[in-house]
Amino acid sequence: MSDSMSMLAERAGECAREIRKYDEVQLVSHIDADGITSGAIIAKALERANIGYDMKFVKQLDENIIKELADTNPELTIFTDLGSGQLEHITKYGLHSIVSDHHRPQGDTGFHLNPHLFGANGSYEISGSGTTFILATRLGDNRDLADLAIVGCIGDMQYRKYGKLVSLNRMILEANPESVVPKTDLSLFGKQTRPVYKMLQYSSDPYIPGLTGNEDACIDFLSGVGLQFSNDEKWRRWIDLSDGDRKKVTSSILQYAMQKGMSSYNIGRLVSEGYILLSEKEGTEMRDASEYSTLLNATGRYMQAEVGMKVCMGDRGDAYREAQNLLHNHRRNLVEGLNFVKDNGITELSHIQYFDAGNTIPETIVGIVAGMSHYSAGNRRLPIIAFADKEDGYKVSARGTQELVNRGLNLSDALSIVCQKLGGAGGGHDIAAGATIPFGKKEEFIEKLNSTIAGQLG
Ligand code: C5P
Ligand code: C5P
Ligand code: ZN
Repeated sequence: MSDSMSMLAERAGECAREIRKYDEVQLVSHIDADGITSGAIIAKALERANIGYDMKFVKQLDENIIKELADTNPELTIFTDLGSGQLEHITKYGLHSIVSDHHRPQGDTGFHLNPHLFGANGSYEISGSGTTFILATRLGDNRDLADLAIVGCIGDMQYRKYGKLVSLNRMILEANPESVVPKTDLSLFGKQTRPVYKMLQYSSDPYIPGLTGNEDACIDFLSGVGLQFSNDEKWRRWIDLSDGDRKKVTSSILQYAMQKGMSSYNIGRLVSEGYILLSEKEGTEMRDASEYSTLLNATGRYMQAEVGMKVCMGDRGDAYREAQNLLHNHRRNLVEGLNFVKDNGITELSHIQYFDAGNTIPETIVGIVAGMSHYSAGNRRLPIIAFADKEDGYKVSARGTQELVNRGLNLSDALSIVCQKLGGAGGGHDIAAGATIPFGKKEEFIEKLNSTIAGQLG
């Protein structure tokens, strides 16, 4: 076991001992896929340990929410996938808490389970679902929940740095081969659930020039490869094809991508390691960690995280159907968001590029759109910053690349520094961060962020 893992496990043991002293706890988690899986992991572990819980999902943690929580006098609060950036307020309001998180800590507290405290990086070595899984294994035999731990870190894009899960995430994966296994395959989204031509047509990350967005071209392309689509075969999904056909299509796509002059970086991203959940039915979103995490984002990012959590807890009836409806809507929003960015363009400064979505992209998904646009419409040599309107100010989402992080970029630091000067609050990870800033401060924010990042990049 790595040092970081054994230190995390030891801290998790201390947290678990504390949790066992209570009959009922307050849970607070984040609304994205990592937060929802974290919430489900701790909830299952508590259920199995006969401890009651009340679950609360929040978009982000701030002083107001912590104050409101403190007013309800919970005996013990467990924060998952958030909390590390708000330790000061948690202490200030006297909330007795366990914090299981992977965001950059601001401050420290006793029952704090965070990779950054033990020499590991929370943007690619372990996610909130991972730290919470370790906590769950200290509360009982909960190894079967490893699949949810992997879904959470996939939702957080933790595979980005190396194109696959590494370090603590990899240890969780490899220690639980009866629950979830890696599989190298075409990286396009929808292998379990979409007809093959639709999978091609909707490929946005990476974007395939000539195929993405063009149904006829995708059908022609597949016929050209020798895949015939008579009417009843039109609906065949990737998982329905024979191994031989899958190989044939994959190598043709790679060849096509080269002919079209796609960058070798993006061509390389067309094939990657994916993660299969063995206890889930083939042909459902839950079978594939990437599709599962998108299904969860489709609930949480529209304030329906409870629906996603029910799916994680095993509901394959009403909650699953509701999640699928939300997913439909989410996909449409992502496509519209990407089109908005393409049509309206991105403004480049010396060290950042940005776009302002106003109220056309929901602020809860503008970060996802920024990340996706970074590959299609954006310039990979600059971090991308997105703005969207919120009730109380502008939502800011920032996304970088590993190469920029290697050169010194730290978006979490940059956003908190600029927010300290302008008012507002921000944080997150070196490669991906977010903030809320006051109305009227956008221009100043952009200018200060550009110079702060110029300083980081030297
Ligand atoms: O709050 P949380 O850490 O769970 O949010 C993670 C977000 O950061 C994800 O939506 C993902 O888009 C982004 N991220 C990323 N690359 C990473 C880690 C996170 O784009 N390596
Ligand atoms: O919202 P978005 O997907 O852009 O968030 C990216 C990362 O920044 C997430 O890890 C999120 O938890 C973090 N964040 C933050 N403070 C905010 C907004 C986002 O720490 N005000
Ligand atoms: Zn997370």
